[in-house]
Amino acid sequence: MAREGRGSNIAVIKYWGKRDKKKILPINSSLSVTLSPFDMGTCTSAAYNPSWKGVKLWLNGKEEDANTERIQNCLREIQARSGESDMKEGIRIVSTNNFPTAAGLASSASGYACLVAALGGLFKVEGDLSVIARQGSGSACRSMYGGFVKWEMGKEEDGSDSIAVQVAPETHWPSLHALILVVSDEKKKVSSTGGMEESVRTSKLLAHRAQAVVPDRMVRMEQAIKDKDFAAFGKLTMEDSNQFHATCLDTWPPIFYLNDTSRAIIQFVHAFNEEMGQICAAYTFDAGPNAVLFVEEANLVKLAHRVSAAFPPSKDKTLEDHLADDELRNKVQEV
Ligand code: ADP
Ligand code: DP6
Ligand code: CO
Repeated sequence: MAREGRGSNIAVIKYWGKRDKKKILPINSSLSVTLSPFDMGTCTSAAYNPSWKGVKLWLNGKEEDANTERIQNCLREIQARSGESDMKEGIRIVSTNNFPTAAGLASSASGYACLVAALGGLFKVEGDLSVIARQGSGSACRSMYGGFVKWEMGKEEDGSDSIAVQVAPETHWPSLHALILVVSDEKKKVSSTGGMEESVRTSKLLAHRAQAVVPDRMVRMEQAIKDKDFAAFGKLTMEDSNQFHATCLDTWPPIFYLNDTSRAIIQFVHAFNEEMGQICAAYTFDAGPNAVLFVEEANLVKLAHRVSAAFPPSKDKTLEDHLADDELRNKVQEV
């Protein structure tokens, strides 16, 4: 049996759009910060016994379909690299996320990174596994490494150079903190996969972004990280988040991942920076309404106090409330 933990990652230069849907090859490079698996991540155990039938997966305590194209692709690649024959049978996978799944906090990133790491451990596959994790979920390739990680889009048709590369290790910028503001832990209505497919098909702004905007931003972001230049890092992060959501609005029909609370958080961060006289905090939003704020240690307590004053946590839900919600949801689905 093999057990692994991987942290989710938050993109500061976003991946949005595939040039090859099957192999998961992106239309632009991207760059992210990997979080600690203890704070926000996945723990996955994998076991192999040739006498067991099929492949089974339990995610957050519930059995899920393991015969999806993405899981099969990861298994096939691990199989090819390990030299094992006929290992598609007899695999049991148990995985838990310690944060909301499919809510725009990159569960597919830590989820598939951890799955590939566990399978890689089980079948003793060595070397870079990001090229395999990418075929589970694009953003997952970046969670194979800690710290600051870029996903180079690559040029090869077979995807062999579309890999994750660490830009700086987790020890590089210890004063940098991420504050996660969970606006909603509900499963999003439009998945990242589906949303970006529609954007590639219909948004001219997305094509412009990928070709003319992102390449320069990648260079500047890498430099800002190397220099630990928060003002440059923060501005690029916010600009890129805003442009990604602009491409969602430019998609036809438009996709809305941000809600009123998300927009209030954006205004709040700009007001905070205005008051501080420089960029001391930065927001970014993935495909969901939840915010990630970046801030340096010196301003962390001040920002956290302001956040809890401006956005007081809604009344803590009791276990009964959650159960009632789920029951209601099931009933609504039945109807
Ligand atoms: P997110 O914003 O959370 O990344 P996505 O729509 O990109 O949302 O992906 C969510 C999907 O990723 C889930 O529905 C599930 O299929 C898959 N996933 C999430 N966590 C795991 C996990 N730990 N192991 C395997 N697959 C996972
Ligand atoms: C907005 O990696 O979840 O979070 O490759 O189809 O699984 P698939 O999509 P996914 O997309 C992530 C989109 C994003 C930006 C990012 O993480 O770079
Ligand atoms: Co995802």
